Amino acid sequence: MTGRIPQHFIDDLMQRADIVEIIGARIPLKKAGRDYKACCPFHGEKTPSFTVSPAKGFYHCFGCGAHGTALGFLMEYDRLDFVTAVEELAARLGVEVPREASLQQGPELGPLYAVLGRAADFFEKSLRQHPVAVDYLRGRGLDGETARAFRIGYAPPAWDSLLKELGDGAEGHQPLLAAGLIIAREGGSGHYDRFRDRIMFPIRDSRGRVAGFGGRVLGAGEPKYLNSPETAVFHKGQELYGLYEARQANRQLARLLVVEGYMDAVSLAQHGIRNVVATLGTSTTGEHLRRLFRVVPEVAFCFDGDRAGRAAAWRALQATLPELREGRQVRFLFLPEGEDPDSLVRREGAEAFGVRISGATTLSDYLLDELRRQAGADSLDGRARLAELARPLLDLLPAGVYRELLSDRLAQEVGLPRERLSIALGGTSPREVQPSPPSRPPAPPRRDGRASLVGQAIALVLAHPRIAAGVDCPPGLATARVKGAALLAELLQIVRGQPELNTGALLERFRDRPEGQHLSALLAMPNPVGEAGAQAEIAGSLGRILALDREERLATLVARAATGSMTPEEKAEFRQLQREQSGRN
Ligand code: UTP
Ligand code: MN
Repeated sequence: MTGRIPQHFIDDLMQRADIVEIIGARIPLKKAGRDYKACCPFHGEKTPSFTVSPAKGFYHCFGCGAHGTALGFLMEYDRLDFVTAVEELAARLGVEVPREASLQQGPELGPLYAVLGRAADFFEKSLRQHPVAVDYLRGRGLDGETARAFRIGYAPPAWDSLLKELGDGAEGHQPLLAAGLIIAREGGSGHYDRFRDRIMFPIRDSRGRVAGFGGRVLGAGEPKYLNSPETAVFHKGQELYGLYEARQANRQLARLLVVEGYMDAVSLAQHGIRNVVATLGTSTTGEHLRRLFRVVPEVAFCFDGDRAGRAAAWRALQATLPELREGRQVRFLFLPEGEDPDSLVRREGAEAFGVRISGATTLSDYLLDELRRQAGADSLDGRARLAELARPLLDLLPAGVYRELLSDRLAQEVGLPRERLSIALGGTSPREVQPSPPSRPPAPPRRDGRASLVGQAIALVLAHPRIAAGVDCPPGLATARVKGAALLAELLQIVRGQPELNTGALLERFRDRPEGQHLSALLAMPNPVGEAGAQAEIAGSLGRILALDREERLATLVARAATGSMTPEEKAEFRQLQREQSGRN
């Protein structure tokens, strides 16, 4: 859909992100010297071994080995994908995430929005000219003010009303086609309007731009609602009808009600309930939830009380679990069978409807009710089954207060203390269930070993990039035969080129590479060398690494000489190495 996030933006984000603030907003941190400590959120422990270093922009748990940057923490703890985590960090800092132009990005979207906006104007104008459409809306209880707020319109019955209005000339067809407003005739000659003789509901994006339409037949007829096809700007599974209008109508929104139909959203607004959005006849998705929680902390789903409604609610619950965080609330409202929000609010009025919303079932009540029903939880057998059924759902929850609360409630329900329950659940959930590993820090790197020599130098470059930027990368390091030397050379090149990068930014550069894990692990090891000694230590390491490289090569050549299989080139190399060696001594 969009291009890559440019590297420089991630670099900059890592500079500006306050890892203490980000982690501190999720778990309580205690200051300990220059760092912060907490009980690790990724495994169960009583004494804190989770450390956050603001200087490095890095967290690390000595108990379970979890570690990473602010971005990594958001991904792990909030269970976000990379792009969403970047967006969350950026939003915190109040910056937009730029995208690199890519070949797949497709054409400029401006003309598409322009033609969609003009189509909405045309449908609105047509509504005023067609009493039959106005009467239909009046018959459903809508007044002009509500119709205007939602920019409701009408597509006239002819095959070419919109075409005539907007599609003059060959060039005019292209944006109309791309917007899904007209359809090419089979056989290739000419086009016709997609929407004819329908009440038109424009679907607006968060900025108020029209992205697509839903069109309803005036009476009976199939399909009852015709929607815009997927286009570059319209993705049915992500849109929320009425979100823009709800934000316009309320300076401060605390809660959003999610309903299933366009008319439900409009009709509730007509009755003064103006915090309503509708999915477009699709299941609720994680993307829906993320969009909703960007606007409000509390979401209430409204479903029909029938079987289909219950099935949809259960799907919505599953989509919701991964998005739950502290401070976010979700409720489920089930309507009496045969009613939808539109019919109900018209029958019993806004106040009674509001009472229903306030009394809606909390997510955890609904979850447990439903599990109990599925498990038949009265017998001991049923309780075991309940624990079974709950396990995959609990796994969907990000670590944190919510997960704890639900685990507690579930344990109560099943009649086991939570620790016992975790064991009974069999350890699928690493965050809570695994016995905590021995809280012994990993062994420090061997100071004499080759890998650890390089490893220590790498750790120092990572920990003190600005200082490492002052160290020359000697020729020969990148090709040295010592394990990890090439990586060390690469890191030195990076920090010399961009001395402003901090530890987090460096680590993020390696996120998609297998070395990334290795780097974090090295950084997480205790490193006795402080900032003051770092430069000399790195330079010293480089010298030793090159010397080791020479020794190793000499040893190989000596072995070949012993078998009499040295080539003339190798003989020359051998003499050169011997000279260098004695030159140093
Ligand atoms: P409903 O049939 O419940 O719609 O479909 P509704 O809002 O109650 O319609 P009215 O009151 O009869 O006017 C719910 C939603 O499912 C999608 C639409 O988004 C609709 O609002 N839908 C329904 C379609 O996309 N196509 C259809 O043919 C029917
Ligand atoms: Mn309806």
